[in-house]
Amino acid sequence: MSKAAPCRDRVLLNDWHVVADRANLSSAIPFETRLLGVDLTIDCRDSHHTEVVRKDTGRPVNRAVRYGFIWACLGKPERDIVFVPEAEEADRYLVTGGSIAVKVSGLRAVENFLDMGHFPFIHTGWLGEEPHTEVPPYNVEITAADEVLATECRFYQPVASPTAKGGMMVDYVYKVIRPYTVALYKTNPLHPTRKDVIVLFVQPVDEEHCIAHPYLCYLKDGMDAATVRGFMQLIFAQDKPILENQMPKRLPLDPRAETPIRADAVSIYYRRWLRDRSVTYGAIPARR
Ligand SMILES: [Fe+2]
Repeated sequence: MSKAAPCRDRVLLNDWHVVADRANLSSAIPFETRLLGVDLTIDCRDSHHTEVVRKDTGRPVNRAVRYGFIWACLGKPERDIVFVPEAEEADRYLVTGGSIAVKVSGLRAVENFLDMGHFPFIHTGWLGEEPHTEVPPYNVEITAADEVLATECRFYQPVASPTAKGGMMVDYVYKVIRPYTVALYKTNPLHPTRKDVIVLFVQPVDEEHCIAHPYLCYLKDGMDAATVRGFMQLIFAQDKPILENQMPKRLPLDPRAETPIRADAVSIYYRRWLRDRSVTYGAIPARR
């Protein structure tokens, strides 16, 4: 592990980050984790008491419980926790996909989540298969809410979802909501007018380590919660070794650093958006 440098990015210090899946914490044993290079202890002795304390100063930090996760903000929260409207719809399962530690910058994990091009090669037989390797052109924009939005993404998938019956063209929408938070909206095979939602909350442990906390909001019809979770874990287990082999481990933001082999519009937007917001933590900043 590289020597941890302190995070100086205001946009990250003053934002909320997931630091644990509440359901996995014990009331008897404090839970230890790390956020932005700062060691934290989470103490939840009972359902009314959750405290997140910095180990270096012994001081509590801002904490919250939402969507089944414990959240922390090391600085002064400037924005609310990301709002997930689908979490309020009663006909959806709301499940976490587990907390998956990955030895790579969380920005790399977000970028990989946005990349459809790897489906036929990494998720062979599930999210893609040869010869259907082409990513058709799609739209990317920065929204009024300052998010990176990719729409009209389409891809052929053999098993797009646990309820999919055979291969189908799948419609995707991607949205980068915060530097370390990305959402995917995917056509539900049984309800083509509605979408299943996966929000990937990435905990920046330090610049080269992250914990991915997938949050799944899937329509219940034809499904059970364990299958939703299992499918996510299967797919993410295929991504983890690929992510951990990426070099460098931090995400280069210099446009000249890594020439994309194929036109990867959303990735180019994401990197530019990070540069414009002065995000450097987990990145190799662009030369000025
Ligand atoms: Fe993947």
